[in-house]
Amino acid sequence: MDLDNKSVVIVGASSGLGKALAKLLSKEGTNLFLISRKVALSNIPSAIKIAADVRKAENIKIAFEEIDKHTGSIDLLINCAGIGLLKDLRESTIEEINDVIDTDLKGAIYVAQEVYKRMAEKGSGHIINIVSTSGLRARPMETVYCAAKWGLRGFTESLQVAGEETGVKVTGVYPGGMKSENFWKITPGKDISGFMDQNEVAQKIIDLIKGDYQKEVTIERPKK
Ligand SMILES: NC(=O)c1ccc[n+]([C@@H]2O[C@H](COP(=O)([O-])OP(=O)(O)OC[C@H]3O[C@@H](n4cnc5c(N)ncnc54)[C@H](OP(=O)(O)O)[C@@H]3O)[C@@H](O)[C@H]2O)c1
Repeated sequence: MDLDNKSVVIVGASSGLGKALAKLLSKEGTNLFLISRKVALSNIPSAIKIAADVRKAENIKIAFEEIDKHTGSIDLLINCAGIGLLKDLRESTIEEINDVIDTDLKGAIYVAQEVYKRMAEKGSGHIINIVSTSGLRARPMETVYCAAKWGLRGFTESLQVAGEETGVKVTGVYPGGMKSENFWKITPGKDISGFMDQNEVAQKIIDLIKGDYQKEVTIERPKK
């Protein structure tokens, strides 16, 4: 996709990977729409920022009605909001379980639904769901996070098939561990020094957007 003058929505743009993507995409001549709860932290003066919580479907509906006032066509969605949970299942609270499923799975679906409706109507557009390698592999300390991300993978692959009928491209991006500033706050003491820099991952996603359509991309640090 040639990004110049394209309308791009990033959900989860206030920190980590989403914020890094917003910064890079702001230099590509895009019309940027940024969504998250603390969206002001995204720090891109030219972008339109909409505060919304992806766990609340009504919030998301209203956010996209606001975007409709500015553009008749969303060309690209980067669906990136997410939270982690690195815990033995026995120690996870019901609130934590609900939060992960509501944010990482249901929230991503609410967002994608709003965008997919609009893209399918015009017969074009590209949705990128940021999943995780935890959507590909079983991890005993991430049972709930894996459940959400495996669910998101199933959703992504199914929407890909639906998109073949409607002209909407759908890509699942599966990053390995990143050093995002907030994501690992919930797990104090976790050694993330060997993880990827989110700016590096963001650049690979920009290359993906500009290149030929790919349905699935895994981004991991090369094994030594
Ligand atoms: N970090 C990793 O190692 C890693 C690895 C693979 C995949 N991922 C995935 O990559 C994505 C980005 O993660 P990150 O590492 O960049 O984490 P991050 O720095 O914590 O950023 C998460 C983003 O999601 C937003 N968000 C969280 N809950 C939200 C809610 N209820 N409503 C709206 N926005 C919400 C946050 O914004 P607000 O707080 O302002 O709402 C923030 O902008 C996530 O989907 C994550 O699962 C992360």
